[in-house]
Amino acid sequence: MAQQVIFPAERGAVIRPEVYGNFSEHLGRCIYEGLYVGEDSPIPNVNGLRTDVVEALRNLSLPVLRWPGGCFADEYHWKEGIGPKKGRKRIVNTNWGGVVEDNSFGTHEFMELCRQVGCKPYINGNVGSGTVQEMAEWIEYMTAGGDSTMAQMRAANGHAEPWQVDYFGVGNENWGCGGNMRPEYYADLFRRYQSYVKRYGEKPVYKIACGAGTSLENPNYEWTEVLMKNAAPYMDGLSLHYYTVPGPDWQHKGSATDFDRQEYYVTLQKALFIQTLVEGHGAVMDKYDPEKRIGLIVDEWGTWYDVEPGTNPGFLYQQNTMRDALVAGLSLNVFNKHCDRVHMANIAQTVNVLQAVVLTDGAKMALTPTYHVFDLYKVHQGARLLASSLTCDRVEGLPAVQESASISAQGAISTTVCNLSLDSAAPMRTVLTGVNVRPTQALVLTGDMRAYNDFEAGSSVAPQPLAGVEAVYDGRDTVLTYTLPPCSVARITVQ
Ligand code: AHR
Repeated sequence: MAQQVIFPAERGAVIRPEVYGNFSEHLGRCIYEGLYVGEDSPIPNVNGLRTDVVEALRNLSLPVLRWPGGCFADEYHWKEGIGPKKGRKRIVNTNWGGVVEDNSFGTHEFMELCRQVGCKPYINGNVGSGTVQEMAEWIEYMTAGGDSTMAQMRAANGHAEPWQVDYFGVGNENWGCGGNMRPEYYADLFRRYQSYVKRYGEKPVYKIACGAGTSLENPNYEWTEVLMKNAAPYMDGLSLHYYTVPGPDWQHKGSATDFDRQEYYVTLQKALFIQTLVEGHGAVMDKYDPEKRIGLIVDEWGTWYDVEPGTNPGFLYQQNTMRDALVAGLSLNVFNKHCDRVHMANIAQTVNVLQAVVLTDGAKMALTPTYHVFDLYKVHQGARLLASSLTCDRVEGLPAVQESASISAQGAISTTVCNLSLDSAAPMRTVLTGVNVRPTQALVLTGDMRAYNDFEAGSSVAPQPLAGVEAVYDGRDTVLTYTLPPCSVARITVQ
């Protein structure tokens, strides 16, 4: 039996809603087809944005969306994506399949997407191939009122009111596709570029410096050390990228659907490395920022497999199974537990790319198991982390069960719990110390490790009620007992 103890009186930081963010790049069928089909499409849309996907994202209470990249960001010149669509420059998307990008989705379309979804925009600027002036003018174009030339241009293009830009990234992966820079050089460039990301509106823009690219082999603490040492006062957030790649190398990443038990456990073990990274990079940040003012922004994370056979290798399209649901559940529990430092996280990517929450095929849409985990976990958005502990068996060298818990402003306590084992159900005993509470809802997502939702069969992998949750109050604590099925992600709420 696994024993979880939740301490409702020991409250941590608020889990910022942004921890449940997404990332959408001009890559494959993420923006085009996945989010944007154009006003003339037979697929139902509002201002070119497909209604089914927007609805699905609204249902997740998606808090923030990062755009336009990724590697694409450091080749993106925003002026090519505004004004009459016919006149927009056609460019080659050199990073992703060499396809022609017609720039029909630009700043106005992205802001309209955020408006429809009800999320905050996180814009990633171009340091690698863009100028300081270009970046400065983009911020002015988006956020300045009055009648400056940039504000006039925005109004002439159909949006008189300035937008609010909540988050702005100063470059992406500038150690790689964003310019192959050394950390010392990038730190200086960050200091310079961010100086011109001015505040025009009521709220200052939250400025995010490019952080470390990491892997199991190279956690790359040096990048964080150099950035913190040289540029900490100028940043609000520092990013971190980590992808879970089950195979031995980038040439053999493994199939999204055709994998065995051993590969399942290796995937979860690699996914759990995010905890080491968050704690390791957090420790470096603590040296320079003990008050934890600066957020660790995990703005790219998730699984990365070989593309689906027969699809464009540059489009990074992969299926999404219960294994991905476990990766999502484990990662989000880690972010919750470190919410004092992790201020935002953005899964890569929203639609049709890598560990997507939604897949589309023409007019059809499928919600992935990962989507359902985000749906289950959305109760944590804006809730306060509760201290909790767990003792459990191990499976293939991993803890068989993993969890986090939070309390909402209304006093509802929710715990999200993953059973990693493929063979054993996990009988659970959860002690909520010092409170008398009753279960109000219990849901579980479970299935074969290879189960996924296809376009024909609909959502066969979807949360179901978790039966048999019992609560006993012994005059001091409440003890919950229930059983988690193998390979499952559950949410139990009590009040
Ligand atoms: O998400 C796909 C790519 O992964 C991004 O463009 C890049 O930032 C990272 O290497």
